[in-house]
Amino acid sequence: MKVLVVYSTKTKNTLKLAEALYDTIRYRKELKSITDKPDPEDYGFIAVGFWIKDGKPDSATMEFLPQIRDKEVFLFATHASAKNSDSVHDAMKVAKELACNARTIGTFSCQGEIPAEMMEKAAAQSPQPPWLADAPSAKGHPDKKDIRELVDFFNKLTI
Ligand SMILES: Cc1cc2nc3c(=O)[nH]c(=O)nc-3n(C[C@H](O)[C@H](O)[C@H](O)COP(=O)(O)O)c2cc1C
Repeated sequence: MKVLVVYSTKTKNTLKLAEALYDTIRYRKELKSITDKPDPEDYGFIAVGFWIKDGKPDSATMEFLPQIRDKEVFLFATHASAKNSDSVHDAMKVAKELACNARTIGTFSCQGEIPAEMMEKAAAQSPQPPWLADAPSAKGHPDKKDIRELVDFFNKLTI
């Protein structure tokens, strides 16, 4: 079986998770950016990493997920909002629904730091986006603990 770890990232937080997952996988494997448009049919198992944008998976991921058919997937994400917040649950639910042609065997998410200039841009909006209140606590994430949690969680799944 060949495993694909595919990631969508703007500021590289999600890339960090993708690289850690890739390193832990013992099957034949490939790590690809979603911008490379990998063909899901080339793989037996797919881990899809995305960032949450405006309450949903980013748009490249929204387009990719429905293309995965009849195989198992693992979904992982980074976001500014607190880890177990309703908004993160809602965004992950959207991702799972979009991946409905596949079987989601697990999900993981953690906070991801926002660059200062993006935070300033969001703060200047009216109304301010709801995730902005949690954004200061995203600083430094994903950190070593987040990555360890991801790897431990993933290694407990049978793929
Ligand atoms: C335009 C924009 C919209 C965002 N929308 C959300 C959001 O709706 N919810 C959230 O929790 N985080 C939101 N974020 C924060 C990012 O999801 C977070 O920083 C993430 O780790 C970025 O991942 P990346 O570094 O892989 O691109 C937003 C960030 C930007 C720049």
